[in-house]
This record gives sequence, C-alpha cells and structure tokens, in this order.
Amino acid sequence: MPSYRIAPSILSADFARLGEEVRNVVAAGADIIHFDVMDNHYVPNLTIGPLVCEAIRPHVQVPIDVHLMVKPVDRIVPDFAKAGANIITFHPEASEHVDRTLQLIRDNGCKAGLVFNPATPLHYLEHVMDKLDIILLMSVNPGFGGQSFIPHTLKKIAAVRKLIDESGRDIMLEVDGGIKVDNIEAAARAGADTFVAGSAIFGKPDYKAVIDAMRNELAK
Ligand code: DX5
Ligand code: ZN
Repeated sequence: MPSYRIAPSILSADFARLGEEVRNVVAAGADIIHFDVMDNHYVPNLTIGPLVCEAIRPHVQVPIDVHLMVKPVDRIVPDFAKAGANIITFHPEASEHVDRTLQLIRDNGCKAGLVFNPATPLHYLEHVMDKLDIILLMSVNPGFGGQSFIPHTLKKIAAVRKLIDESGRDIMLEVDGGIKVDNIEAAARAGADTFVAGSAIFGKPDYKAVIDAMRNELAK
C-alpha cells in the first residue's frame, strides 16, 4: 500500500486561533499543513501571506505546503521560504517562465510543484518532470473552500499517476478540493497519495475522528 498523507487546509480553520488550530490538527494526525495563498487577482479571494506562515511555523513540526494562487509568482517565493515553507506549488499559467520558477523554489530550499486546475492541460508537465517534487491536481476551481469535488478530475488523477510512474521519479500526487471521507478512497484508487481537506476536517468539532475515518477509507 502506498504511504498516504492527509494535508488539512487551514483555509477552513479559525483564523483567530490559528496557532492552536494547527497544533490541534497535527495532534489529530495531520501529516502536512496545507496553506492556501490567494491574491484577489489570480483567484477572486484574498487570504494569507508569508507573515502568517512565519507565525504558525513554530507551532508545528510537519511540513508546511504553500499553495500559491497568485500572479505573478516569483517575487513571493523567497519570502515564503524564509517564513518556513517546505513545499511551494504554483499554477503554471500564472508564471511567465515555469522552468525558472520551479528552479527558484528549489534554490530557496523548498520542494517544488505545479498545480493544475480542472481545465488546465497537462502539457505543462512535458519538459519539467525532473524539476518536480509534487504535482497538485485541483478537484474544484480554485478560490474557495467548501466546494464540491468535480468527478471528471478522477480521470486526470489517473493520467498524472501514469505519467509519474512512467517517469520513474519520486513525485507526490496531491489532490485538492472537495475531499471528504466518502470520496477519498476514489481519489486514492485513481492514484493520489496526498489529500488536502479543508472544510471536511475543520468543519467538524473532532478533527481526529475525521482524519481516522479518512485513514480507514484509505486502508480499504
Ligand atoms: C481552494 C483551495 C483548497 C481548499 C480546500 O482554492 O486550494 O485548498 O481550501 O477546501 P475544501 O476541502 O473545503 O474543498
Ligand atoms: Zn489549496
């Protein structure tokens, strides 16, 4: 069985108590903290930046996975690296020079990845597989938590799984958007190994119960 990782998105956490929220969700079994950065330009919403990343960094030991929904991308990368990010992903159509941005992320000491919206073609992968540590597939259109999983993205997960396997490289395959206890197994069967979940976890009072239920589904 592949090793699966659960990555709660703090977009649905209580921002007034963020330190406590990230500690609690890690104590409940989270493997990664997913950190959604929205700029009111690339996506129609505005969230959090490097200062907040820096503020939560001392509260948890697990990797912080920064999902950049911003345009332009490059100027904010070093700031997140300094703020303690471990993984930085961005949307290829938001960067003028995808290869350069991936290299910039690695040069700043972070794992690098590309994010694909439901309708973004995968051809961006063609020449950069050797620069990727992670591929993030959106199963909703980016911008908001609490949306419904788009079923046709399962086919895309399977297509990317095939590309990763054919490459022979160790690249994480993360899925983001509308992941719940009742569809996480389908996403895993399609080939994902890392699961972002915001509202499914932070929307319930008992984070451990949700994460345990997700792991039970993944063990099927
Ligand atoms: C959407 C974000 C997601 C979002 C997931 O643009 O990238 O990470 O927070 O939230 P849920 O799990 O509620 O769909
Ligand atoms: Zn995200």
